[in-house]
Amino acid sequence: MQFQLTEEHLMIQKAARDFAQNECLPGVIERDEHQKFPREQILKLAELGFMGMMVSPDYGGAGMDTISYVLAMEEVSKIDASVSVAMSVNNSLVCWGLEKFGSEEQKQKYLVPLAQGRKNGELHIGAFLLSEPEAGSDATSQRTYAEDKGDHYILNGTKNWITNGSSASTYLVMAQSDIAKGSKGINAFIVEKSWPGVAVGAKENKLGIRGSDTHTITFTDVKVPKENRLGGDGFGFTFAMKTLAGGRIGIASQALGIASGAYELALKYSKERKAFGKEIMHHQAIQFKLADMATRIECARLLCLKSAWEKDQHLDYTLSSSMAKVFASETAMWVATEAVQVHGGYGFVKEYHVERLMRDAKITQIYEGTSEVQRIVISRSILK
Ligand code: CAA
Ligand code: FAD
Repeated sequence: MQFQLTEEHLMIQKAARDFAQNECLPGVIERDEHQKFPREQILKLAELGFMGMMVSPDYGGAGMDTISYVLAMEEVSKIDASVSVAMSVNNSLVCWGLEKFGSEEQKQKYLVPLAQGRKNGELHIGAFLLSEPEAGSDATSQRTYAEDKGDHYILNGTKNWITNGSSASTYLVMAQSDIAKGSKGINAFIVEKSWPGVAVGAKENKLGIRGSDTHTITFTDVKVPKENRLGGDGFGFTFAMKTLAGGRIGIASQALGIASGAYELALKYSKERKAFGKEIMHHQAIQFKLADMATRIECARLLCLKSAWEKDQHLDYTLSSSMAKVFASETAMWVATEAVQVHGGYGFVKEYHVERLMRDAKITQIYEGTSEVQRIVISRSILK
């Protein structure tokens, strides 16, 4: 067993860190305040090959491993979680799902530009549409219906909370086709946003990741050719669950980054701020907070890396990714809240960044399966 990153891993980590400092930090407070989608930042990420990191070069990707992905996600998330959520969805839900389960034709047509994150110089990313107004955690209760019409399906329904909802050009949509079959009646489809009957609702006004474009998407009699179904008839729920297992490594790494970003700021501030005649780092109450932050972050990092390693080794990573996600997201919420405390009143204003990290941390406990859902997955696995 080795706990050492390779030269290549260290280079990727540095490239992501430099990118976050140089491209994401400038304007991050304004983008959050004005809910501005970080289009330029994501285009530059695409130029670095970070929007299709794990996709084979045969399909336009960078051919990196999942460990590299965790390292890059952590660095970008330290600075701007609105950028990293777009990166996570495109890499680990959209591109991975297409590469693993798409046909050769689907990969050539859809995966190649999505892995590059660009088409004709413009941003070209995807979105993953599972959640509905009445089907979030209870994801098998899909109301969106895809009626089989022989050579095509007719899609009707509503998806909500969709990340990259307006910026994506390609949607992976889960829908029920045979209600009597329950989860085995669900299909997954590749749907183009430009097709007739697809409508994008208003952007959600959110607590955190305010730059990320979260939208409701509705489908009204959308004609989807049969060749756009992913996998065989009824494969959609398995597709969603298998894809989400990897997605949860991405969100766990996002949470890890938010936690380490908040910790680094708290550490720096504790060395600068004086109270009672000495820097606050000399007060044991602050020292113990920092010690607990560093310890929990290290645990979260090890869980993320272990899950990534299992995925790279083609082992089953369903359990480890849920463990990483629940632990890292709860760490992010706790560390960011304590980082605000270490900053005192200054932590409560925007200029010091930690209040944003605290707001951004919250979503990591909700999306890609709430903390309660992760505990369902973990307990089912250890009790079976
Ligand atoms: N791999 C393969 N198959 C799986 C699976 C997996 N990981 N998990 C479940 N299945 C199969 C089951 O074996 C079962 O098949 P059988 O009937 O043949 O046994 C079938 O799928 C149904 O599974 P369950 O009976 O376990 O279903 P359930 O109703 O009890 O729900 C759940 C399980 C874990 C709670 C699941 O519904 C779930 O993960 N919910 C959360 C949904 C979620 O994470 N949404 C995220 C949306 S994307 C997003 O959020 C992106 C973003 O923010 C950026
Ligand atoms: P519910 O499922 O209604 O849960 C409400 C509460 O009940 C939660 O605390 C939950 O943990 C708890 N609960 C539910 N069932 C159980 C149970 N059996 N046992 C114990 N507790 C339970 N979805 C997508 O498909 N694609 C996206 O790109 C996407 N992006 C998102 C971005 C944002 C900003 C947000 C807010 C959400 C996003 N989602 C996306 C949706 C997200 O995955 C869901 O919000 C999440 O899965 C929870 O579903 P819900 O909101 O319907 O809550």
